[in-house]
Amino acid sequence: MSADRGARVAILLSGRGSNFLALHGAMERGEVPAHIVRVIGNVPDAQGLSRAQDLRLPTVCIPHRLENSREAHEARVMAALDDARVDWICLAGYMRLLSETFVAHYRDRILNIHPSLLPSFPGRDPQRQAIEHGVRVSGCTVHFVNEGLDSGPIVVQRVVAVHDHDSEESLSARILTEEHRAYPEALALLLTHDWRIDGRRVLLSSRGARPLV
Ligand code: GRF
Repeated sequence: MSADRGARVAILLSGRGSNFLALHGAMERGEVPAHIVRVIGNVPDAQGLSRAQDLRLPTVCIPHRLENSREAHEARVMAALDDARVDWICLAGYMRLLSETFVAHYRDRILNIHPSLLPSFPGRDPQRQAIEHGVRVSGCTVHFVNEGLDSGPIVVQRVVAVHDHDSEESLSARILTEEHRAYPEALALLLTHDWRIDGRRVLLSSRGARPLV
C-alpha cells in the first residue's frame, strides 16, 4: 500500500474500458482506497488505452501479436506490473487467458469481472448464452482469478432480470450498469476488510469500525 493514496492497482484491458473508468471514478471519489498505477493493454487501438491516456494515467500497450509466444508476452506484462509495484491487478475486459505462472506470481491479487452469474455461462458471449438458455435472472460476477476459466472464488455478484423481449445487446447494457457498481464494490470490500479464501468461499470480516458494505 502507498502511504496515503491506498492500494496500487493495475488495469489490464483489451477494449472499450468502461469498467476501468468505473473503477477509476470510484477511486477519484474516495469510494475505493486505491489508485491506478498502470493501465496495460494488448490491443494497440483499444479505446480503453486512449481513455487512460486522456486521464494522464501511466499507460502502456504490449501487443501480443508482436511476441513469439504467450510466455514472451506475459513476461513483458509481468515486468511492467512489477516495475509499477502493483498490489492488485484488475482485469477489465482483458481478452487473454493467463498462464499458471502468471496466476501463481500474483496469487489472490488478480480480480476479474464477468457478465454472468458464475458458475453459469463462463467463457465467451455469456449474455447470449443466458438468453438462449432461458434464464430469468442473470448479472455479473467479480471473482479472484485462478488457473481455470472464470472459475475463481467469488467476491461480489449483482443480479438483473432477463426480460422476454431482451436481445443480447439490451441484456448486456443492463448487466453493464451493474458491473460498474460491482467492481468498485468488490475492490473496496477487499481493501477495507480482513478476508480469507476458504475453499471456494471468500470470507470477509469487518476491520476496526468500518461497517460491512
Ligand atoms: C465486460 O462486460 C466485462 O464483464 C467483460 O468484458 C467486458 C468489458 O467491457 N469481462 P469494458 O471494456 O469494461 O467496457
